[in-house]
Amino acid sequence: MHKIILDTDPGIDDALAILLLATSSEIELKAITVTHGNTTVDKCLANAIQIADLAGIRNIPIAKGANQPLIGKLQIAEETHGDTGLGYAKLPPSNYPIHSNNASQLIVELVKKYPGEITILGIGPVTNIALALISNPEIKPLIKDVVLMAGSFEYAGNASPVAEYNVFCDPYALQVLINANLDLTIIPLDVTYQCLFTKEHLAELQNCKKDIYEFISDSTRFYMEFHQEYQNITGCAINDPLVVAYLLNRELLELMECYVEVNLHKGNFYGKTSADRFSTLGLAPNAKVATQVDVPAFMKLFIDRMHKL
Ligand code: BDR
Ligand code: CA
Repeated sequence: MHKIILDTDPGIDDALAILLLATSSEIELKAITVTHGNTTVDKCLANAIQIADLAGIRNIPIAKGANQPLIGKLQIAEETHGDTGLGYAKLPPSNYPIHSNNASQLIVELVKKYPGEITILGIGPVTNIALALISNPEIKPLIKDVVLMAGSFEYAGNASPVAEYNVFCDPYALQVLINANLDLTIIPLDVTYQCLFTKEHLAELQNCKKDIYEFISDSTRFYMEFHQEYQNITGCAINDPLVVAYLLNRELLELMECYVEVNLHKGNFYGKTSADRFSTLGLAPNAKVATQVDVPAFMKLFIDRMHKL
C-alpha cells in the first residue's frame, strides 16, 4: 500500500484534504506533519488535531513543525482562511496526542524506516521537508517521491501578481527540494483553480454525517466569500484535496516533465515559479508539472468520498 506523510498547514482546503485521506483505505497515512502557512504553526497544529478527530483518524503521529520560513518573514492568510484558519467552522477542542519529535525529525525517521517507500505530500509551505533534507541529506535517495500543491506557471498568483501562496511563504524551501534531485511532482494553481467547489456541490453533501456536512459548509462559506471578494470567483478552489485525489486516481491529471525554477529575487516577482515548457533552455527536467485536470472526475471523487466518512 502507498505509504505517505502529509505535510500541511490547515487551512480550509488542507482540512478537506485530510478528510479525503481519512476515506482512502488505498493509502497508508504514516504521519501528519504541521507547518506554518495559512496561520501560525500553533493554530495549524490545533486545527490538525481537531480535524483528525472529526475525520476519525487515530494513532497516526501528528507532529509540530517550523514556525517560520527558512528565510524571510512569517506570512499568514487570515483573509483567506479566517482568524482560526478554518473559516466559520467551530470544532470541539481535541486531546489528540502531539508526537514528541518535531516534524522534520519525524520525516527523517519515517523515510529511514521505510526506504524507497514513502511519498511526501506537501500542501503547505515546504519548510519542514526542506529542513529534513538539510539536516539529513542522506534521506534524499530514500524518498520514493514528493507531490506538492505549489506554484503557478501560466496562471496568476494568489499571494502576489505571480506567486502561489505556499511558494510565496517560503520559496527558499522549495529551492532546497528542487536542488535535491527528488522525484518531484508539482500541482499548481493552473489546475487547482479549475476545481471550484460551489454551493451546488455543497448541496450534494447534505446527506453526509451531520458534523462533516456542517464543517464543510461553515468552512467553505468563509472561503467562498474570500474568493468572491478578492478574486471575483464564485465558489472556492479546493487546491489541496487534488493532491490526495491524484494518488487515488493518476488519470485525474496530465503532467509535463520539464525544467522549473523559483524566483528568489526580492521584488514584485518574488516566489514566481516558471517552467521551460518547450525545453528552450535544453536543461534536464527537474519536475513533473500538472497541466490539465479532469474537473468533473475530481469533484465526483471528492463528493463520493465525503459520504464515506
Ligand atoms: C495553497 O495556499 C493555501 O492557502 C492553501 O491551503 C493551499 O495549500 C493555495 O495557494
Ligand atoms: Ca495548504
